[in-house]
Amino acid sequence: MISDQLHWWQQGVIYQIYPRSFKDSNGDGIGDLQGIITQLDYLTWLGVNAIWISPFYPSPMADFGYDIADYCNVDPIFGDLGIFEKLLEQAHRRDLKVIIDFVPNHTSDEHPWSVESRSSRINSKRQWYIWRDPRLDGGAPNNWESYFGGSAWAFDQHTGQYYLRQFHAKQPDLNWRNPEVRSAMYNVMRFWLDRGVDGLRVDVLWMPIKDDQFRDNPINPEWKDGDLPWAHQIRLYSEDRPEMHEIVHEMRAVMDNYAERVLIGEIYLPLPNLIRYYGDNLSGAHLPFNFELVLLSTWNAQTIRQAVEAYEAALPAEAWSNWVLGNHDKPRIASRIGREAARVATMLLLTLRGTPTWYYGDEIGMQDVTIPPHLAHDPQGKRQPGYGRDPVRTPMQWDGGPNAGFCPVNADPWLPLAADYQKINVALEREDVYSMLTLTRALLTLRRTKRALNSGNFYVVESKSENCFVYLREHGKQRFLVALNFSTEAQMIPLPEFGKGRILISTSLDREEQVYLKALSLRSHEGCVIEIAED
Ligand code: NOJ
Repeated sequence: MISDQLHWWQQGVIYQIYPRSFKDSNGDGIGDLQGIITQLDYLTWLGVNAIWISPFYPSPMADFGYDIADYCNVDPIFGDLGIFEKLLEQAHRRDLKVIIDFVPNHTSDEHPWSVESRSSRINSKRQWYIWRDPRLDGGAPNNWESYFGGSAWAFDQHTGQYYLRQFHAKQPDLNWRNPEVRSAMYNVMRFWLDRGVDGLRVDVLWMPIKDDQFRDNPINPEWKDGDLPWAHQIRLYSEDRPEMHEIVHEMRAVMDNYAERVLIGEIYLPLPNLIRYYGDNLSGAHLPFNFELVLLSTWNAQTIRQAVEAYEAALPAEAWSNWVLGNHDKPRIASRIGREAARVATMLLLTLRGTPTWYYGDEIGMQDVTIPPHLAHDPQGKRQPGYGRDPVRTPMQWDGGPNAGFCPVNADPWLPLAADYQKINVALEREDVYSMLTLTRALLTLRRTKRALNSGNFYVVESKSENCFVYLREHGKQRFLVALNFSTEAQMIPLPEFGKGRILISTSLDREEQVYLKALSLRSHEGCVIEIAED
């Protein structure tokens, strides 16, 4: 714990690194762990407290590392165990925590467990995966659909049965009803916790256990052409089963044998279901990822306020909130809402109550990059055109030189660089006092140094402006108003009850001044953090 009994993951900010795309140290055009090590000073300069590294384990890369062939090693593309240990040691030396991905729902079909399981119906690992007989007509055992398109069942010619795979055919689902699987997977957790990792981000934490009767999922009656393909079914029987909570509880018990570790769950569910993953008496995930802001289809002051209030109201007492704006699966914030609006979104994320998770490159305003079909990699997009995730996984833009400083000049980056990387990059933005990077860093500094901002109370303030969202963060006598204008029009907000204050930072980075709050003016797409003067 750190000051006043708070855990590090309550006061800190988590930075997600997609390792293929962060920094290539050996010239193969793919980022690696050594590359991350070389950028740790950047991350401490930026002011984040923890990094979450997406999978780096041995993998055939059918789903870019989320298809794991060995849970306890490092893919040679990314380095080796020794380099991982060096990364951990170097990060810890800088007081940076390290969170890694834990992928319990499925392995690669090239994982030795899967190879064995497939070898015969009587193999001792057969029941480690989910095998079912074909229907009488030879069809799949039920109607479940894969997130990557088509049936969730793949037929195995060799043994004449179907296996479940909710993602790629090379990602067979493990059978979490089998105690041997559970114990093997908890040993995987221990393997990394013993090495000193500070937390686990658990992939699709709401999915590992399935209906024991494999009932058909209902079809979503509201689904129409053009809607998200994976929303076609209501996944009533294939995910978020009641038994899942027992497993989350067991995972948490594994974590609790170690000091100061964090269990984060990737969970896309409606709020009432999501918050159950905190567990009874908070014995589940410390932070079930809150994707409310990621999923908002309309981005304005009212929808955001509603999302924040609904989440705050739904949280169990004492549960720690968290917020996310983007990740390796979803459009980048600067593409969803534009770069100007993304500055306000950054202020929102870094001043809300709860732990923020940051996606690499968002601090410089990286946008989605259009990937021509012949350069596409992502299996989700290949099967379901228009839904590819390559655009949000392009190389980090370090400088304006060849290959944006991501990989050496003679290397070929695994995904194309953004066309605007000569303008949008770390080196240039570090020197620019008005840049998105400067803004992000300033907000991170403010959040780190002001207790009210990193862990104070949160109250929504009525602003009388439907285009603005205003709230108060408070700890003891420290009080900060956050006033965010989400519109393209200037706004005048009357907040007479707060007397006067001092603008500490504006999203435009050109305003530090005393203000009388009886009439606070905000320019188009402007947000301000205002320190309220003590009476
Ligand atoms: C969620 C991950 O974030 C995504 O990238 C991956 O494709 C699926 N889980 C399957 O592991």
